[in-house]
Amino acid sequence: MHLAKLHAPSQIQLNEHGNLKHFVTIEGLSKDTLNKILDTAETFINDNNQLITSPLLEGRTVMNLFFENSTRTRTTFEAAAKRLSANVLNIDIARSSTAKGETLRDTLWNLQAMAADIFVVRHSSSGAAHFIAKDVCPNVAIINAGDGQHAHPTQAMLDMLTIRRETKKPFEELSIAIIGDIKHSRVARSDVAALQTLGCKDIRVIAPNTLLPYGFSEYAEGVRLFNQMDEGVKDCDVIITLRIQNERIESPALASQLEFHKMYGLNEARLALAKPDCIVMHPGPMNRGVEITSSIADGAQSVILNQVTNGIAVRMAVLALSMNGQLQAQGLLDATSVV
Ligand code: NCD
Repeated sequence: MHLAKLHAPSQIQLNEHGNLKHFVTIEGLSKDTLNKILDTAETFINDNNQLITSPLLEGRTVMNLFFENSTRTRTTFEAAAKRLSANVLNIDIARSSTAKGETLRDTLWNLQAMAADIFVVRHSSSGAAHFIAKDVCPNVAIINAGDGQHAHPTQAMLDMLTIRRETKKPFEELSIAIIGDIKHSRVARSDVAALQTLGCKDIRVIAPNTLLPYGFSEYAEGVRLFNQMDEGVKDCDVIITLRIQNERIESPALASQLEFHKMYGLNEARLALAKPDCIVMHPGPMNRGVEITSSIADGAQSVILNQVTNGIAVRMAVLALSMNGQLQAQGLLDATSVV
């Protein structure tokens, strides 16, 4: 087999039955796999739109390894694991022995020896979760909670769940715009990949050229690019706004935040150009008055806080599915067992 194929992300993520055992990236996963994550997530939300609890991960240990800052993602992973009855350990990486010169590999092997079943990993280096799943701890389920500018697959899936639940329309029929700092955003990359896989035919990206990735037209096949907001948001069903990732910008990409707000900030007048029932999303953290005005963030069309709740359901699904996939891969669980 061709080497590139052997090491393709989907090969690492799936067991021999085609079930998820790591969740590192959206790329390479099928529409069926993404729909299975969404359908499983829905089973954790009851008819009153409340999250349920379940014993699915009783006796299992989930370790949160956040090498980079996070509020929502780390907390919702913890909430998700606890709702599945797992033991959760939040490892304070900044105070760990990696700060004393221990290699990442040794730190991870030690944590694995403490009977970890799942590692939730956030790292500033693109490819970190993939490296751990392939080369360091293949028998621990590795969930990528954001790696550099590369991928944030659980954010993409919670965005997809929010779109599905709020619009109640098939992805094929939706016009979806992503606005802002595409170049430095792992959320934008994973959202585009998920939307393409789920069949969305009208994906629009709205940004100045300085905030678009190099070679954008090749990476984003089928995606339309707009430099003008008014044209880009016209008749949209969904608008996803993104923060400018200042911590990842080396040279000035913008004249100023004020300038960005004038050109690309989502305000009432621009939202009025979209469909009347268009929903507004943001992965957080939000910079009010820059990419979005407060009246929109707190307005009737905003589903930003629903995204946070849906994040728990999606993370419960990913934790449960990848645990099952790992057990199947190790011959400890029948492949036909379902979550
Ligand atoms: C995003 C991230 O960390 O990539 N936030 C998140 O996970 N909720 C987006 C961002 O930081 O802008």
